[in-house]
Amino acid sequence: MKAIDFFEANKDRFLEELLEILRIPSVSANSNHKNDMWVCVENLKVKLQEAGADFVEICPTEGHPILYGEKIIDPQLPTVLVYGHYDVQPPDPLDLWTSGPFDPVIKITDRHPDGAIFARGACDDKGQMYMHFKAFEMMSKTNELPCNIKFMIEGEEEVGSPNLGIFIKENKTKLACDVILISDTSMIANDVPSITSGLRGLAYMEVEVTGPNRDLHSGTYGGAVANPINILCKMIASLHDERGHITIDGFYDEVLELSEEERFAMNQAPFQLDSYKKSLDIKNVHGEEGYTTLERASIRPTLDVNGIWGGYTGEGAKTVLPSKAFAKISMRLVPNQSSEQIASLFESYFKKIAPDSVEVKVNAHHGGEPVLTPTNGIEYRAAALAYKKTFGKEPIPARAGGSIPIVALFEEVLGVKTVLMGFGLDSDAIHSPNENFGLFNYYKGIQTLPHFYHFYTELKTRIS
Ligand code: BES
Ligand code: MN
Ligand code: MN
Repeated sequence: MKAIDFFEANKDRFLEELLEILRIPSVSANSNHKNDMWVCVENLKVKLQEAGADFVEICPTEGHPILYGEKIIDPQLPTVLVYGHYDVQPPDPLDLWTSGPFDPVIKITDRHPDGAIFARGACDDKGQMYMHFKAFEMMSKTNELPCNIKFMIEGEEEVGSPNLGIFIKENKTKLACDVILISDTSMIANDVPSITSGLRGLAYMEVEVTGPNRDLHSGTYGGAVANPINILCKMIASLHDERGHITIDGFYDEVLELSEEERFAMNQAPFQLDSYKKSLDIKNVHGEEGYTTLERASIRPTLDVNGIWGGYTGEGAKTVLPSKAFAKISMRLVPNQSSEQIASLFESYFKKIAPDSVEVKVNAHHGGEPVLTPTNGIEYRAAALAYKKTFGKEPIPARAGGSIPIVALFEEVLGVKTVLMGFGLDSDAIHSPNENFGLFNYYKGIQTLPHFYHFYTELKTRIS
C-alpha cells in the first residue's frame, strides 16, 4: 500500500495537527465555551477539506454545530459513514492535572513507554476522531480510497446528543450509507487488540427530597423533624441489597442473560485483578454477587450516585437541619432494557420507598439505549482482518461499559449497523484529570483504518 509510505513521511505532522485541535477548549457542557465550539468545528472543516473531502459543511443546530463532509468516488461503491465527536468533558478538577488540560504535552508512562499525549479530549474523542481524518488523507492522497466516505462529527456527545437524533432524521438521504464506523471506545491492551461488540445504555435521574419548608436549627428541631439528607441517604442505600443487586421492582425483567458459554468466552480475555486494584488504589473490588469484574463492568446493569448535595458544606460548622437534599443517579443498562421504562420504574420505586415525612421529586435527564454490534457481519470481519494486518493478531470481541446513545439511533433511523474500532485503553483516564492517549495507539489507529476500508469494500462488493 502506498498509503503506508505516506504515513511514514507525514506522521510528525499528523501529531502536530492533533495537538493544535487539543488546544481548543471545546467543552460542550459549559456555555462559556460556545465560541470555542465554533473555533473547533471551523478548524476541523478546513482539516477535512485539506484531507481530500470534496464537499464539507458546518450544520448549525439548536445546540453546537455538526461537521459534515464527504468524498463520493462512485455511487455504485459502498459508503462508510464515520462518526465522532469534537466536544470534550469539562476538565475539572483542574488542580489534579499535572499539566494544563488544553496545553497538550507528550509524557512517557508505564502503559505508554513510547509516550502519550496528555490533554482533555486526547483519547475521548478528538484523538480517536482525528485518526479517521488522517487515515482518509492517506487514502485519498495516494489514490487508495476504495469506496465512498462520509463524515459526521458532532459537538454534543458528552451532553447526551440532544440535537443529533433530529439531525439524522432530517438528513436520512445525505447520511445514507452501508456501515457506520466509530472510534470512541477502548481496546483491551496494546498487545491485545479487541473490537467493541456492545455498549451499555443509560438512564440518568435527578432527585429532590424536601423536608421542612426552610432550613431549621438542628438543636431546636433535630430529632423531631425528618432530615431530608438522612432520608435520601437511607433511600439510596436501599437501592442495592446485600448481594449487590438493584432492588427496584422489575429492574432485571428485560435483562438479556448470557449463556454459560458466552460468559466463559468473555472471561478468557486477559484481565489481572491485582493490577486492576493497584491501578485504582483500592484494596478490593465491589459489585453484584455471582459476576466477575469484567462482567460487572459490561454485561450487567448498574446504579450509581454521580453527585449528592444539600445542607451546609462551607467552611467550619453550621448547625442546620436542611430543608432539601438532592442527588444525580445514573443507571447503566444492558440489552434489552429500555431507558424510558427503567426511568419510569425508578420513579415509581423511589416515590414508593419515601416516608411521608418528606416530599420527593424525580426528573429524568437524557437517556440512551444499549446496543449489541454483531460479530458475524462483514463489517466485523473487515475490522478483524484490518487489526490482524497491523497488530499481527486476531482481535477479540469485547463489550464496553460506556455508552454512545447515538449507535442505537443510527440503527433505528438509518437501518445501518455500526462497527466500533476503539484504539484507546481503559486506563487512559477519559473524563478524569490527566486524560491521555498513547502515540502507539494514535498511530496504530491511523495505520489500521485504511485496511478496514480495503477489506470492507472487497467483502461488500463480493456479496452484492
Ligand atoms: N466515548 C465515551 C463512551 C465510551 C467510553 C464507550 C469508553 C466505551 C468505552 C463517550 O464519550 C461517553 O462518555 N459517553 C457518555 C454517555 C453520554 C450520554 C454522556 C457515557 O458513557 O457516560
Ligand atoms: Mn466519546
Ligand atoms: Mn466521553
